[in-house]
Amino acid sequence: MAGLPDPAVVVLVGASGSGKSRWAQQRYRAQEIVSSDDLRGIVGSGRHDLAASADAFGLLDDILAARARRGLTCVVDTLGLDAERRRGYLALAKSHGLPAVAVVFDVPGALAKERNAQRDRPVPAPALAAQLARASDAAAEIEAEGWDQVVVLRSGLPAELERADAPEPERSADGMDFVLQVSRFPWGEDPAGWLKGVALAADEAGFAGIALMDHLIQIPQVDRAWAPIPEPWVTLGMLAGLDTDLRLGTLVSPVTFRPAGITAKTVATLDAISGGRAFLGIGAGWWEREHAAFGLPFPSTKERLDGLESAIETIRALWSPGTKAYSGERVSLPETTSYPRPVSEVAIIVGGGGEQRTLRIAARIADGCNVSSDEKTLDRKIAVLHRHCEHVGRDPAEVSVTVLDVPVVGRDRDEVWARVERLRGGTAAAKFAQTHHAGTHAEQRERYATLAAKGVRTVFLAPAHVQTPADVLALAPMLA
Ligand code: GTP
Ligand code: MG
Repeated sequence: MAGLPDPAVVVLVGASGSGKSRWAQQRYRAQEIVSSDDLRGIVGSGRHDLAASADAFGLLDDILAARARRGLTCVVDTLGLDAERRRGYLALAKSHGLPAVAVVFDVPGALAKERNAQRDRPVPAPALAAQLARASDAAAEIEAEGWDQVVVLRSGLPAELERADAPEPERSADGMDFVLQVSRFPWGEDPAGWLKGVALAADEAGFAGIALMDHLIQIPQVDRAWAPIPEPWVTLGMLAGLDTDLRLGTLVSPVTFRPAGITAKTVATLDAISGGRAFLGIGAGWWEREHAAFGLPFPSTKERLDGLESAIETIRALWSPGTKAYSGERVSLPETTSYPRPVSEVAIIVGGGGEQRTLRIAARIADGCNVSSDEKTLDRKIAVLHRHCEHVGRDPAEVSVTVLDVPVVGRDRDEVWARVERLRGGTAAAKFAQTHHAGTHAEQRERYATLAAKGVRTVFLAPAHVQTPADVLALAPMLA
């Protein structure tokens, strides 16, 4: 919700005809709005059945409490002029740790009267006059009540009212790249057709590249163990043959899967046949089960991290010009004869936010690191990376910060919440929405602008709902 906290308890305040219901309906899903008029219409003879007020407000309180208890947004669409009720809503929000927002509609009396006169059942003139008087007092009272945010819409002209609510000027994520991270392969009977379709859609949507997960068994965070998870370098080889500019690589290849020299050969080959579009995400590996199942050793964390460090050394040695012997910190090779060489400066991105070693390895010998997109975690990881850079005498600008982002996105709030509901499994919706940064394309762009300002260069984007090329194409507005 542009400019307002979400989830939140949002309480509307204003005389009849001041535009409260319209404002709410333009911004929130119908299920998020609890309206005393609507409830009167349900328990009474109609929206204006004042005799049904007590029942309607009783239900309203129950609905608000139930939603707040679940951490779900609730917009209270009543006059909001009763200070005691208002404070009740405020206290309820606080007791559930939800931000409490008051939106005050302080429109000129003449406008409210004009709108009132045009309605099916106008409010009697003296009642409206009393409401208008209370509404103009309410603004001052509310300031003193302790709301987390108070928005006062004080405007005469409808057009101005609309402008006051327009989304904030867009900040930009200029200079930031988006790479589609493909971790699920629901390709049915046509693996090649599906892969091609997804890659062409990514290119058309404005993605700068495609990254594939590198796992031997599909990981439980993504799908079931028997869902297909193809060998990534073979798959990327096929994508290299399409007519696109997409960069192609893994996020990330565990060093435990292949001897480093073989990875050097594989990635150099991909770079050569793709005209310099390869990148290599590399990590220490973490999932013991896939190693056991494929007969691969899974040594201790320390050994795996040592392995990561020596793998990068080996790969760099085999990618540098000439055939001379190599003798480095951890690795010695009698010769470095490896053709084809990569045709570009292939970026090596170290995956993982391990602060002691992983980020130190990235600072020392990688071109980038890959960490979580969670803003709080990110600040800390960037600070740690920079400390390591300082320690090893590396310019932090040489080590790109990249993030993996697995958001729930949709064109509008209805689509976002339909996806939250479909994907959340047994997790509470509010929690799932929060951890997956659920939001519309516009809200995601705001978030990416924030990440860009923190120095993030590349977002590896893996929206959880993506199943088809059409799903990929629909992400275009978020990348523009
Ligand atoms: P009550 O439910 O009676 O308390 O009124 P309310 O504050 O919910 O007002 P509502 O949103 O129903 O608006 C009253 C009338 O004014 C409706 O016909 C709206 O379409 C119209 N209206 C409200 N705000 C605007 C606005 O910003 N621009 C325009 N053009 N019309 C508006
Ligand atoms: Mg209304």
